[in-house]
Amino acid sequence: MLNFDYFNPTRVVFGKGSIQRLGSLLPADARVLLLYGGGSAERNGTLAEVRQALSGHVVHEFGGIEPNPRYETLMRAVALVREQGIDFLLAVGGGSVIDGSKFVAAAAPYQGDAWDILSSLGQVVKSALPLGAVLTLAATGSETNHNAVVTHAASQTKAFFASPLVFPQFAVLDPEKTYSLPARQLANGVVDAFTHVMEQYLTYPVDARVQDRYAEGLLQTLIELGPRVVREPADYDSRANFMWTATQALNGLIGAGVPQDWATHLVGHELTILHGLDHAQTLAVLLPSMLEARRVGKHAKLLQYASRVWQLNEGSEDERISQAIAHTRTFFESLGVKTRLRDYGIGLSDIDALVRQLEVHGMTALGEQGDVSLTLSRQVFEASL
Ligand code: NZQ
Ligand code: ZN
Repeated sequence: MLNFDYFNPTRVVFGKGSIQRLGSLLPADARVLLLYGGGSAERNGTLAEVRQALSGHVVHEFGGIEPNPRYETLMRAVALVREQGIDFLLAVGGGSVIDGSKFVAAAAPYQGDAWDILSSLGQVVKSALPLGAVLTLAATGSETNHNAVVTHAASQTKAFFASPLVFPQFAVLDPEKTYSLPARQLANGVVDAFTHVMEQYLTYPVDARVQDRYAEGLLQTLIELGPRVVREPADYDSRANFMWTATQALNGLIGAGVPQDWATHLVGHELTILHGLDHAQTLAVLLPSMLEARRVGKHAKLLQYASRVWQLNEGSEDERISQAIAHTRTFFESLGVKTRLRDYGIGLSDIDALVRQLEVHGMTALGEQGDVSLTLSRQVFEASL
C-alpha cells in the first residue's frame, strides 16, 4: 500500500545562461558566502559568471572543498560564516561542494559539537542557513535533495546526514557548465545516477507503478545517453538530458513510498575511505555483485528489470536475471568505469580490513530487508575481486 509524505521545496532554474538569474534568486540584502572546490569552476568560467551575477551583493568566498568533502575543511568555512555574519550560502560545483555547503549551513548555527549533526544523522539539526546551488557536475542529485555526505579523515569515516532544512532553496543547472568535465567524471556521473535509481527501484514490488515506470525511464535514458555523453564531444541536448536525469534520479520522487536498498552505497564508502576509489567506481564494482548475491530476495524486481529495461524476455527466469546483471556490468565497463576490485589494485588480503570498517561503522544489517550482514558483504567483496 502506498503511503508517503513527499516534500521537495527546491526551485530548479535550468538551461543555457541560467546563471544570470542568480541575482534575482538571492534576497537583495543577503550576505553571501560562495563555496567552491579545487579550481575547476574558476577555470571553466563558472565562477566569473557567478561573481558577475552577484555584483550587487556582499560576497565572501571559500574555495578548496575537496572531492569527498572533509569535515576539517568545512569547519573552517563554518568559522568564516560566523566571523563575517554570512546569511546565505551559494555552492558552486558538484556533489562534494553542495554536500559540504549543506553541512556548513547546518553547523554554523549549531551550538554543540558539529560532529553531532553527522552522528545523529541530522536529528539535531533545528535550524540551518539558507543555501542555493549552481551545479557543474551531474551525478549525485544533491542539488535538489536534503542529503549530505561528509568525510572525517581522522577517524576514516564517510558519514552522512539528512535534514529538510538543508534542501537548497534553488538549483541553477546550466548544461554548458558541464562541458569542461573530463570523461572520467562524466562516466562517474552516469554510474552514480544509474545506481541511485537502482537503490530505490531494485528491491521488491509494492505496486508503485508510477515510481517503477519512472525509474525504468531514467535507467533507459542513461543507457541511451551515457555512452554518447562520455565519448562524444559535448553537445547541448545530450548534456541537458543527462543533467536532468541525474537530478531526478535522487530528488525523492522515485523513492517516495517504496522500499530502498542503499547497501551498495554504504559498503562502497569503505572502499573510498581505505583505497581512495571515486564514489562511482565503488558502485560500479559492488552493484553487479550485490545483485548477484541477493538475487533470491530481489527475484521479482530483477525479472522486471531484465524485461523492461533490457528487453530480456527469452530463456528461463534465472537466465534472464543472469543476463540482466551481466548487462549492467557491461554497461559500466562500456563507459570506461572498471568493475573489478583488482582493477583498482585491491586483492583478497584487503577484504578483512574492509569488513572490519563496516563493523566499526555499524553497517551490519543493510539493504531493504536488513539482510546484508557482514558475512554477505564479505561475500560481495570476494565476488567483486
Ligand atoms: O574540485 P574541483 O576543482 O571543482 O573539481 C571537481 C572534482 O575534482 C571536478 N569538477 C566538478 N565540476 C567540474 C569539474 N571538473 C571540470 N569541469 C566541471 N564542470 O570533478 C571532481 C569531482 O567532483 P565531486 O563534487 O567530488 O563529484 P560528485 O558530484 O560525484 O560528488 C561526489 C560526492 O557526493 C557524495 C559522494 O559520497 C561524494 O562525497 N554523494 C552525495 C549524495 C547526495 N548528497 O545525495 C548522493 C551520492 O550517492 C553521493 O554519495
Ligand atoms: Zn551515489
